[in-house]
Amino acid sequence: MSAVKLLLFCLLFKEVVALSGNFWHITDLHLDPSYTLNNKPELVCESSGRRPAANAGRFGDYACDSPWHLINSSIYAMKDILPDPDFIVWTGDDTPHIPNEDLGEEAVLSIIRNLTDLINLVFPNSKVYSALGNHDYHPKSQHPAVPNNIYDRTADMWQKWLDPDSRKTFKRGGYYTEKLLNRTGFRMLVLNTNFYYDQNKLTKDMDDPASQFSWADEVLTKAANNKEKVYIIGHVPPGFFEKKRNKSWYRSEFNEKYLELIQKHHPVILGQFFGHHHTDAFRMFYDSENEDTPLSTMFLSPGVSPWKTSLPGVVDGANNPGIRVFEYDTQTLLVKDVVTYYLNLTRANAARGRWEKEYRLTESFGVPDASPASMHQVLKRMAEDRCYLQKYYKFNSVSYDLKECDSDCRADHVCSAREVDFESYEKCLEKEGAASISAGLLPLLSVAVSLVLANR
Ligand SMILES: *[C@@H]1O[C@H](CO)[C@@H](O)[C@H](O)[C@H]1NC(C)=O
Ligand SMILES: *[C@@H]1O[C@H](CO)[C@@H](O)[C@H](O)[C@H]1NC(C)=O
Ligand SMILES: *[C@@H]1O[C@H](CO)[C@@H](O)[C@H](O)[C@H]1NC(C)=O
Ligand SMILES: *[C@@H]1O[C@H](CO)[C@@H](O)[C@H](O)[C@H]1NC(C)=O
Ligand SMILES: *[C@@H]1O[C@H](CO)[C@@H](O)[C@H](O)[C@H]1NC(C)=O
Ligand SMILES: [Zn+2]
Ligand SMILES: [Zn+2]
Repeated sequence: MSAVKLLLFCLLFKEVVALSGNFWHITDLHLDPSYTLNNKPELVCESSGRRPAANAGRFGDYACDSPWHLINSSIYAMKDILPDPDFIVWTGDDTPHIPNEDLGEEAVLSIIRNLTDLINLVFPNSKVYSALGNHDYHPKSQHPAVPNNIYDRTADMWQKWLDPDSRKTFKRGGYYTEKLLNRTGFRMLVLNTNFYYDQNKLTKDMDDPASQFSWADEVLTKAANNKEKVYIIGHVPPGFFEKKRNKSWYRSEFNEKYLELIQKHHPVILGQFFGHHHTDAFRMFYDSENEDTPLSTMFLSPGVSPWKTSLPGVVDGANNPGIRVFEYDTQTLLVKDVVTYYLNLTRANAARGRWEKEYRLTESFGVPDASPASMHQVLKRMAEDRCYLQKYYKFNSVSYDLKECDSDCRADHVCSAREVDFESYEKCLEKEGAASISAGLLPLLSVAVSLVLANR
């Protein structure tokens, strides 16, 4: 190669490198300080609620929230895999699933501080964007739409991560916005969607708790005027839980308002990053007039806590601990790829704890990037192709649940990903429930094929 060519190559290469950035997203760490190994499986951790922790080990158990060892391991794994991310997104839920009476305000604050200190210790130079989860309040999910001690003290704990204006709005309502990495043209919007959770009794009769919707509308309108690109992060997502039919989180008026906010401002919104499900999933937002035009995607990242949900109606709802890197275009904020890392909890307890790559979105689903158009393709593939559906289903529990996804399961996953709106979701279930009759024949077909092959 001539020197000139080499120079040209280096210039181009530098350009490519400069355009690509990455950030971590972690969520639902749920530290359970009571976790102790003993010979009474019912008493290993309080968060199991007396369900036996049958395979408890140093890294945890599927019946329990995270022991300190698992949390420490996950944050150091991040350091190992990608030590210098552009920034870190942390979408809350730090405390264990235990009764309010066994926590209290000081206990909640002390756990938030514990995790904050750890992240600061391991990533002293990284900017962290942090949203409150429904478990980051006492009593849980009762986030007030007015200033209070928890918002106040948390804002102080996170002072290093917050601009002065962010601190002010956080103390007022647990939300904030600032320029992304202090760069002109890029913005982060951090929402307190715990207001919209139907478990929150304090916001039940309000139109717009803490004026968050009108504030977000204003922020996004200004962003459009200033030609900014925006990421939105939060904890409780709109739409439905894919592991339980017809299970939504938001009150219906709030669900509609959230959907309208995204549909109105989608040109400036380049990604939404949420948690709360503990599963690996995504939600599509479409044009209200044209359901084939994808406008935006919400990525639901898997939790660190493996805790098997106790939500009635969910069968075996545990997951392996997961953490995730988003690769993005630093000029446009387009999400280019999603790489999920996980710990096989069973193996980690038996042998050595090793965090490994679970999958890369573009490789596993054969799409060029993670844009709304590509995620629309991913959804189409899992709806129409059993192999993609099965792959998606395995990743949904972070490779914990390896069972076959049957026709009901298919409808649950397809409709929750496709429809955030309550009515459209019900219509989708009617349609996909009928469609799944033919899909339901496929396993029979595959049994037939294997019988034929076995008889050769
Ligand atoms: C946390 O993990 C790191 C890296 O594996 C290890 O060096 C350190 O001793 C751990 N700390 C605790 C308190 O377990
Ligand atoms: C967090 O709490 C655990 C015990 O639950 C303790 O071992 C650890 O040192 C604490 N870490 C920090 C950074 O405060
Ligand atoms: C952000 O950038 C402005 C100038 O554009 C500068 O004055 C300010 O100190 C920067 N803030 C931080 C936290 O770096
Ligand atoms: C789904 O839930 C909503 C409200 O939670 C209820 O009004 C509706 O009837 C339910 N639909 C079905 C099919 O169960
Ligand atoms: C996790 O580890 C267990 C025990 O080694 C193994 O049986 C299981 O197949 C592993 N799961 C995955 C998804 O690799
Ligand atoms: Zn959670
Ligand atoms: Zn939650």
